[in-house]
Amino acid sequence: MSAGLRARRAIETLKEYHPPLGGRDGLRLDFNENVDGCSPRVLDTLHSITAETLNKYPEREPGEQAVAHHLGLPSEQVLLTNGVDEAIHLLAETYLEPGDETLIAVPTFSMYEIYALATGAEVRTVQSGEALEFPAAELLRAITPRTRFICVANPNNPTGAIATRAQLFAIVQAAPQAAVLIDEAYTHFGGESLLDQVGRLDNLFVSRTYSKAYGLAGFRLGALLGSASQLKMLRRVASPYNVNGIALTCLTAALDDREYIAGYIAQVLEGRSRLEHFYLEQRIPYWPSQANFVLAYFGSYRQAFVAEMRQRGILVRDRNSDPGCAGCVRITLGNRLQTEHLLRELPAALTRIGFEPQPRPTLATKGTQ
Ligand SMILES: Cc1ncc(COP(=O)(O)O)c(C=O)c1O
Repeated sequence: MSAGLRARRAIETLKEYHPPLGGRDGLRLDFNENVDGCSPRVLDTLHSITAETLNKYPEREPGEQAVAHHLGLPSEQVLLTNGVDEAIHLLAETYLEPGDETLIAVPTFSMYEIYALATGAEVRTVQSGEALEFPAAELLRAITPRTRFICVANPNNPTGAIATRAQLFAIVQAAPQAAVLIDEAYTHFGGESLLDQVGRLDNLFVSRTYSKAYGLAGFRLGALLGSASQLKMLRRVASPYNVNGIALTCLTAALDDREYIAGYIAQVLEGRSRLEHFYLEQRIPYWPSQANFVLAYFGSYRQAFVAEMRQRGILVRDRNSDPGCAGCVRITLGNRLQTEHLLRELPAALTRIGFEPQPRPTLATKGTQ
């Protein structure tokens, strides 16, 4: 008798990743989405969707031309993807062989590790220090001839920390045999972009998402930017219809409404400094953020705090199990009214749980694993 169907070993040993998606009613400050909405022009365009938009296989190229024009790149340097998630997946599929090494600095976005491990590659992690800063020197030191994929979120999730251009250049140049992804999912809120280097450094990839500032997480739309010769390889693996027709139909409306994006970003930045100011006043340790969220330390009150905020109709994200983030909670900023709402409920929630600020204990783990 045959042994029956088994998944590949790399998949059987992969840990399950279940973001807490169910029952997300209330003010959703837990997923770094744009909770203000999206450009009204996108909603208008949605009304023009016809049966033909749905019965035709979607055409990705005009969308790539629109994004290329918007970013000032030639269209051969743009690959539209089903969210940045798919861009990471395609990079892992294109460059990693079983046994190759992927390097990431942690804590960071989970999908880098998941897609790399799924290919049978190994993942080496470099732990950020006390300040959860980008561990540039340690990451550089960890590069070996087997390193084939390096992922850096800039700004980083869940810390809001940034890497400088000089640090990122050094990494891209030190690992010419590796695909280096600089994931600029939160670039609208801070940090320096490497967009102007796309096409100049052959192993550099930059990703942008339409899930965050643009408020289109439900569309699943991302852009991977890289040298034309490397993207040619990725196009071999990508489905020709990976981006759906509704998202493609609405894309130019989203890109053209620069005013909506600028107004939303301004409200997020104002909210971020108000939230950081609140943490400072309350002596709650937090990490100054360059993204649309702030990570703070609630120590042993973490669970009670998250539950109390939920009771009050505000969802915040427990990041306790991220490496180096024990006792931490991340809160996303929304528009001005939503920040007012948050700042009204926060002090009441803390009083209700009897919160006392605690100093953050020293990190036990540091260095490469
Ligand atoms: C750093 C980072 N990259 C990518 C993503 C996912 O982007 P997308 O919705 O385009 O797949 C996230 C979502 O949280 C993120 O934090």
